Order: sequence, then C-alpha cells, then structure tokens
Amino acid sequence: MSTRGEQAPVALVTGSARGLGLAAAQRLSEAGLRVHVVWRSSEEQAASLEERFPGRVHRADLSEDGACAALIESVLAIDGAVSHLVHAVGDYEEGSLSKMSTAQLRALFQSNVFTAMEMADAARGALRVAARGEGDASMLFFGTAGLAGLGARTKTPAYAAAKSALAVLMRSLAREEAEHGVRVNMISPGLIPHAGAHPSTLDPSLHAKIPLGHAGTPSDVADGVHFLTHARHITGQDLGIDGGWLL
Ligand SMILES: NC(=O)c1ccc[n+]([C@@H]2O[C@H](COP(=O)([O-])OP(=O)(O)OC[C@H]3O[C@@H](n4cnc5c(N)ncnc54)[C@H](OP(=O)(O)O)[C@@H]3O)[C@@H](O)[C@H]2O)c1
Repeated sequence: MSTRGEQAPVALVTGSARGLGLAAAQRLSEAGLRVHVVWRSSEEQAASLEERFPGRVHRADLSEDGACAALIESVLAIDGAVSHLVHAVGDYEEGSLSKMSTAQLRALFQSNVFTAMEMADAARGALRVAARGEGDASMLFFGTAGLAGLGARTKTPAYAAAKSALAVLMRSLAREEAEHGVRVNMISPGLIPHAGAHPSTLDPSLHAKIPLGHAGTPSDVADGVHFLTHARHITGQDLGIDGGWLL
C-alpha cells in the first residue's frame, strides 16, 4: 500500500488470464497494488482483463525467447518499477514415464521451470532496485502440494519432478537474493478447481481424500499470495494451500 502520498508498489502477475493467477491479481489489486497482468491465447480473456486492469494488460508467450525480458520492459515503460513478481504459469500433465515422450517431458520443464527462471532473471534487476527503494520486493512461484520427501509419483511423475526442481531453484534464489532484499517464496496448491482448470481437479474421489473435506478455491490461494507478497520477513518458504491433502 502507498504511504505518505507515495505511489503504490507495482506487481506483475503472469498466468493471470484465468484461474489462480487471475485470483491473485485481483486480490493484490484490491489491496491497492498497481497490478500488471498477462494473457497468451484468448482475446475474450484479454478484453475482460482490460476492464479490470486498464492500461496494465500485456500479451506474451513466456516460453518464447526474449519474452520475459520484453514483458518486464513493458511494465517498466508504464509504471517505472516492479516490486513483486507472481509467476502462475505451469502446465499440468498426467501419465507414467513409460508413456511420456522426452519432448513432453521437456515441454513440462519448459512451462514449469524455465519460464520461472527466465522471469526471475528478467525481473531480478528491477526487484533489487525496488527493494532498495521500498525496503521490500518479492518473487513468488507456484509449486504443487506434497513435494516434500521427493517421493515417487504414479500419476504425475514428470509434473512433480518439474515442480520439485522449481522448489530447489526457488530456495537457491531466495538464498542468493536475500542480501539484495528480494524475498523468494512458493505457493503449493492442492486441488483447486476453477473455470479452465484441469478436469482432474473436479474428481470427487480426490476431494474426499482432502482432510479438511473439500477442495480449495482460487480465493484461498489468493489469500496465500497476498500473505507472502506482504510478509516482509519470510523467504525461501513453500506454503501448501491444500486442506491437508498428501500430509
Ligand atoms: N489448479 C490447481 O488445482 C493447481 C494445483 C497445483 C498446482 N497448480 C499450479 O498453480 C499454477 C496456476 O494454476 P491454474 O490452475 O490457475 O493454471 P491454468 O488454469 O492452467 O492457467 C494457467 C495460465 O497460464 C497461462 N500460460 C500458460 N503457459 C503460458 C506461457 N508460456 N506464456 C504465457 N502464459 C501462459 C495460461 O494461458 P492460456 O490461456 O494461453 O493457456 C493460463 O492463463 C500453475 O503453476 C499450476 O501448476 C494448480
């Protein structure tokens, strides 16, 4: 929030045309931040975003070379700063390793790991500047519930491996960026259905396994995003938002 008449911090939320990224962007906007959002493929979603985040809507495919750096440049051209990066991109795919091609594996790592690292690389400089000026800046990535212990997965081995790699990179980035005042954390949702989510999030037999007795909502995840974006003494943490699933 702005104080003493200063302008509000700027947040960039990727993967924000729908689902968890959109809920996060809305929550941060309601909290008073100047929020930039990103769409990739739906003109309809883009029009809706323009109504909610006027003048701060960007189109990008973050898997393309140079797209992350260009996105940060676009944000800086509009608002002159970026204090918080929330990166909600990350494709989901099921299938045993024997049925998954190397190309599919590469695509999952591209979506879940390399877009995150390229965004981090692109945003690092601006976030360090923001941390020097405002005393705080942050990056937030999306993992998935139940990564602790590096256990085998029968349904989602490649996805879990990609998110596990991201978790290690997140902690390493947190260690590296701490001296620059930039905090780096992760949110790990459990089952969060929403319009456009993977159909497996709707499976009632999975919902029945959640100790709290129900699936989460995008708003539950947005609570975590708001918390970690504002929690000025928390870095290197992975916050599960999963109703106790996979405990
Ligand atoms: N929902 C859950 O239950 C759940 C559970 C565990 C973890 N997660 C993680 O939480 C994050 C958000 O989940 P979600 O359910 O909101 O995901 P989602 O419904 O798949 O939405 C992802 C968004 O990211 C965009 N996107 C994907 N690749 C992109 C790229 N290369 N460049 C630019 N935009 C791209 C998509 O745009 P398009 O419209 O073009 O596809 C879409 O708007 C993901 O990292 C996911 O793995 C979700």
